[in-house]
Amino acid sequence: MNNYEEWFTTLAEIPELASWISELREASPNWFSAKDRGDIGKWQDALTKLPAVQETGFCVDQGKLSFPSSEPIPEELLLPFHPWRKGPLQIGETFIDTEWRSDWKWERIAPHLSLEGKTVLDIGCGNGYYLWRMLAAGARWTLGIDPYIPYIMQFQCMRHFAGADAPAQIFPIGVEHLPRVAPCFDTVFSMGVLYHQKSPLEHLMHGRDLISKGGEFILETIVLPPQFDQVTDCLVPEGRYAKMKNVNFLPSVPMLESWLRKVRFKDIEILDYSQTSLDEQRSTSWMTFESLPDFLNPDDRELTQEGHPAPWRVVIRAKK
Ligand SMILES: C[S@@+](CC[C@H](N)C(=O)[O-])C[C@H]1O[C@@H](n2cnc3c(N)ncnc32)[C@H](O)[C@@H]1O
Repeated sequence: MNNYEEWFTTLAEIPELASWISELREASPNWFSAKDRGDIGKWQDALTKLPAVQETGFCVDQGKLSFPSSEPIPEELLLPFHPWRKGPLQIGETFIDTEWRSDWKWERIAPHLSLEGKTVLDIGCGNGYYLWRMLAAGARWTLGIDPYIPYIMQFQCMRHFAGADAPAQIFPIGVEHLPRVAPCFDTVFSMGVLYHQKSPLEHLMHGRDLISKGGEFILETIVLPPQFDQVTDCLVPEGRYAKMKNVNFLPSVPMLESWLRKVRFKDIEILDYSQTSLDEQRSTSWMTFESLPDFLNPDDRELTQEGHPAPWRVVIRAKK
C-alpha cells in the first residue's frame, strides 16, 4: 500500500540522509500499528474499498487538482476519509469541497517560485495537497512529513489514483524525527506549522539546516495584523487562540523577519501578507466540524472568540 521501501532506497543514496533513512526503515513497521494512532482500521478499510484503476495520473485543470478515474468513485467511498481539510480535489467524477481553498494559498505563492527540477521537503504537509501542486510546478520529487494519520490516509487515497510511481510521498512522522542537520533539499516549506512549535528559533534553524547551499525556505504562518508593526510586537495566547489549544505565539511581521535574520537567513522577502477570509476556510459537507466562521467573534470579525486579533497569514521566502 505505502511503497516506502522504494523511497527509503532512493533517499538512502543521499549521504546526508543515509543514517536517518536506516532509522526510519527500522521504525516504519510500527508507523501504522501504534495504539495512539486512532481508528486506523477504519481508514485502511476505506483504502481497500477503492476500485483498482487502469489508468493512473493526476493533473491540475484550471487550478483544480484532479485525479482522473475511468471507474465511478461515488462519494460513499471517499466520505470515510473525513475530515477533508485541504483541497479542493476532484477524484473521478466526485468533487471534494474541502474546508480550505488551499488553491488560493497556492495561487498567492506559486508565481514567486521556480521549482523546476527541485527536490522539495514540506514539513507538516497535511494530506499532501501541495506536494501535487509542487510536482505540477516542475519539482523532481516532493517529500512531506506529517504525523496525523487521517491525512496520510487521504494522501494514500490520492496516490492510489496518481499511481505508485508518483514522485510524491509522505512519511507519517513529526518534524522532531527529521535529521537535525542534513543540508540536502533545494526547497523546504513550512506552512501552518511554526505557531504550533514551542520554540520558533529552533524550528527556523532546523528548517535552515535541511536546505542545501543556495536553496530556499518558504515559510507561511499566522502573524499579527498590520497595525502591529513593531519589531517588539508578539502575542503569546495564554489560553486558546481561535479555539485552537496549540497556538504558542503570533509575532508581528517585523518580529518574524528579525527571527529569520537571527538564525542567519538572508534575502528575506515577503511574498504575501493577507487576512484569512471566511470564504477561504469554512465547514462543508466534506469537513463538518467547526471552522473559521465559528472561531471568530460574530459581532466583530476582526477578533477571535477569545478577543485576540483575527488571523492574518504571511508567506516569506528566505535564502540560506
Ligand atoms: C495548519 S496545518 C497546515 C497544513 C499544510 N501545511 C497547509 O499549509 O495547509 C498543520 C499541520 O502540521 C501537522 N503537524 C502537527 N504536529 C506536527 C509535527 N510535530 N511535525 C510536523 N507536522 C506536524 C498537522 O498534522 C497539520 O497537518
